[in-house]
Amino acid sequence: MQSVFMKKMLGVAMILGAGFSAQYSFAQSANCSYSISNEWSTGATGAITITNTSTAAINGWTIGWQYNTNRITSSWNTNLSGSNPYTATNIGWNGTIQPGQSVSFGFQVDKRGGSAERPAITGSICGGVTSSSSVASSTAVSSAAVSSIRSSSSIAVSSNVNSSLASSVVSGQQCNWYGALYPVCVTNQSGWGWESNKSCIARATCASQPAPYGVVGANSSLTSSIASSAVSSVASSRIASSVISSIASSVVASSIASSIISSSVPSSVASSSIASSHSSSSVTSSVSGLSLKALADFPIGVAVRAGSEANSILASSQQKSVLFQHFDQLTAENIMKMSYIHPSETTFSFANADALVDFARQNGVSVHAHALIWHEDYQVPSFMKNYSGDFPAMLKTHVQTVASHFSGKVVSWDVVNEAIAENSDTSAVNGFRNSVFYQKMGVSFIDQAFIWANEADPVADLYYNDFNTETNDAKTTRMLNLVDGLKTRGVPIDGVGFQMHVLPDWPSIANIEASFRAVAQRGLKVKITELDVRVNNKYNSSAPVYTSLTAAAAATQSERYRQIVAAYLRAVPAAQRGGITVWGMWDAQSWFAQDPDWPLLFDNNFQAKPALQGFANGLSGQ
Ligand code: XIL
Repeated sequence: MQSVFMKKMLGVAMILGAGFSAQYSFAQSANCSYSISNEWSTGATGAITITNTSTAAINGWTIGWQYNTNRITSSWNTNLSGSNPYTATNIGWNGTIQPGQSVSFGFQVDKRGGSAERPAITGSICGGVTSSSSVASSTAVSSAAVSSIRSSSSIAVSSNVNSSLASSVVSGQQCNWYGALYPVCVTNQSGWGWESNKSCIARATCASQPAPYGVVGANSSLTSSIASSAVSSVASSRIASSVISSIASSVVASSIASSIISSSVPSSVASSSIASSHSSSSVTSSVSGLSLKALADFPIGVAVRAGSEANSILASSQQKSVLFQHFDQLTAENIMKMSYIHPSETTFSFANADALVDFARQNGVSVHAHALIWHEDYQVPSFMKNYSGDFPAMLKTHVQTVASHFSGKVVSWDVVNEAIAENSDTSAVNGFRNSVFYQKMGVSFIDQAFIWANEADPVADLYYNDFNTETNDAKTTRMLNLVDGLKTRGVPIDGVGFQMHVLPDWPSIANIEASFRAVAQRGLKVKITELDVRVNNKYNSSAPVYTSLTAAAAATQSERYRQIVAAYLRAVPAAQRGGITVWGMWDAQSWFAQDPDWPLLFDNNFQAKPALQGFANGLSGQ
């Protein structure tokens, strides 16, 4: 259904024109949106988000909805009453919604033989007070730049402003999209809202579908007023300025024809202990004005260091500058892992991660959090390895304390990392890694981790993350069997993370694409979570051995980045793209630096390598 949607989307002309302006008002104090976060054969999980679009605080809320077939089996972060129709009211801590802010609560439904429904939300706060806003721009916007505008919305997925955008739907109307009902976006701009978070379908897109599909429901005066508008009613000046900078980047980017390879850039990263033991990256690429994030409709992320680690981004203006130009998501490379954040049973040390997450939020960068459970010996706190008490209860406390601490501040989690055994693992049990978690709980540690994480943070996307699963081989099959089992058992999983620490010649692009496609076909999101592309393949004795980054190695690496990104776009429908994160910003930061290797997009002077242009070309379909 989503790929059909995207094909049709491509056929719908973008109607955002040069020099647009729109203003209108309508009665409501909040946008109330219903979204489905995960669906399997018998059930689904979802969330209702209430965004205060007025200028006054909402103090206490009550909303309602009714299904045709589905029925609620559990809910969280709300007081739920009724048995279809349902009424939800706030609980103690989420009754007050400040202007521009959002509150979400979650639930699970039994589909009872139907599809996952998206009912209309009723309630006085979902239609009561007048709000109005306007957007004006004199910027000449090319059609190529329109995609930048949409991509800019993903910059602030975690921000209040953007959640207003995401949930800005027309009350009283729905879109009949080939048999399924979705909310209709307030905006008339094709594709708006849907691609960023599946919360709604733009009215113009929906209305252009053949009968009997299209916009259904009453409220024609609002409809006609909106139909004459070309932009979102809730775009703020903050969004507008990021839009303009994205447009500027995109326009410049499109004029860059090719990489220019230069030589002999000296290696130096101030105060980098790693850099001093890593030989120079010698090939750079002239890409001024290029912006990866401006070329993508999904998050473009980078792993960074912070806290007590060397090379903290918080102390590096160079890193910040690269981050802001190219990336709109970050992942903590280490400081949100178990041993850092939960060093002893009674100690949770959030300060370093909080500082990083706050930095991201203050700068409109979303956070993909990594990782709630990981077997790696030195990452498992010693108290867990030797735990003699109630292991599941202890693990639940870990998952829920960490996930709830960051709830509302991160957009997604790697819930379980690397639980599936390697093909060569002789100590594997039933295809799973023989970790302390598996030994204590069997595969239920994975089920429970997702269930606990979902209870603690019902809004964030929850991923299973692993490496060597992009190989389209036996390990991939074991991963697919795991996610099929999770879905069959009703476990709330949203997506699969492919780490993608790949070699220059392995796995093949065909196998990578097939692996992505297999997950996408299951309706799950696909995220490349830790991408790096080494230039050396030390496992292949006939492969070339590079002791420095030569122009030839850099060119091969650039093409490999291009092909991986292109395969991702081919295999994963737009609505299921969780994004692409590179595992570090510059070569000396890479965990492969000492091999030696040069796997990342920037050299040790933070100069773009040809790899960056390859990534960009993959994004722009070149
Ligand atoms: C790595 C970090 O990059 C290193 O700095 C650290 O010493 C070890 O962990 N798979 C993962 C990541 O999920 O957490 C790992 O990160 C790389 C492999």
